[in-house]
Amino acid sequence: MRAAVVSTLGGPEGLELVELPDPVPARGQVLLRVRAVCVHPADIAARVGQIPGGPVPPPFLPGWDVAGEVVAVGDDVTGLGVGEQVVGMIPWYLTRGSVGGYAELVAAEADWLVPIPAGLDPVVAATVPLNALTARRALDLMDLPKPTRLLVTGASGGVGGFAARLALQAGHTVHASATTDDEEWVSGLGVDVVIPRSADLAAAGPAPAVLDAVPVGEPAIAAVADGGVLVSTRPIAPVDPTRRVRQDVVLVRLDRPALSELVGAVADGRLLTRVAATFPLADAAEAHRRFEAGHLRGKLVLIP
Ligand SMILES: NC(=O)c1ccc[n+]([C@@H]2O[C@H](COP(=O)([O-])OP(=O)(O)OC[C@H]3O[C@@H](n4cnc5c(N)ncnc54)[C@H](OP(=O)(O)O)[C@@H]3O)[C@@H](O)[C@H]2O)c1
Repeated sequence: MRAAVVSTLGGPEGLELVELPDPVPARGQVLLRVRAVCVHPADIAARVGQIPGGPVPPPFLPGWDVAGEVVAVGDDVTGLGVGEQVVGMIPWYLTRGSVGGYAELVAAEADWLVPIPAGLDPVVAATVPLNALTARRALDLMDLPKPTRLLVTGASGGVGGFAARLALQAGHTVHASATTDDEEWVSGLGVDVVIPRSADLAAAGPAPAVLDAVPVGEPAIAAVADGGVLVSTRPIAPVDPTRRVRQDVVLVRLDRPALSELVGAVADGRLLTRVAATFPLADAAEAHRRFEAGHLRGKLVLIP
């Protein structure tokens, strides 16, 4: 099979298209013919070698979120069959590139995957797992006992956009920041107030709950109310302890029932996602360059 591996740490040119032996599904695994794999900030971080736990020595396979078709089934797999369209999250924090999505074939644990609902494009489905599961988990971590005002940063992005919708559906009032010239998309999420990127996050007064999805760090710390809750997607500075802010960093985790529900919500329009552009797998380096140029309107997706 063809795969785009990181052969040297550093710039996008370190991504190389290579021929690898076809993986064979072990017990509990299925073989997936990948139709779409999402490009995430975590892939770029792995490529440059700046990830929690330290750099992974090349060569390794990037890629968390895959959608495709089951083409073979290992022993002891129930509930998934050959021909089924599935989407899922490779837990890259565990595989650290020994298994990754930038490939034509992936031997994936059946537990990582859920069926794609009829009518949902695999390219769109591939934008869902990592970001939606992170958003879900962040809100769970916040553990807000009753509807409150939640400030979400970067709702123009994957995690922030999913979190904003999920928070609205949970009954919260959502104020959300958008990147420059992307306020319309964030407004279309149905949030109560759209905050332009250049505006003061604290302008509406201290927020009882802040999800710093970007994360922006200091402006989010300034916006959270004393005694409130602040969750970020990466570590940020600690809040002054005298302010009694409950502060946490979300870490995605595999959750098949939650993934199934989240993918279903995208299929029926309760959650919104968007694809900025697709690239052939052979142009993975080009896709990384496009990602690093910034100001995307949605996700980049590789097509093997
Ligand atoms: N801890 C975990 O388990 C976990 C899981 C998934 C993701 N993450 C992290 O979460 C973060 C978001 O990931 P993502 O996939 O959602 O990224 P994304 O889709 O690129 O979204 C980020 C969004 O924030 C916008 N933005 C950047 N700076 C901003 C600012 N100052 N004010 C308002 N908006 C701003 C970006 O716009 P521009 O592109 O125009 O700058 C983009 O629209 C990343 O740091 C990622 O590594 C963590």
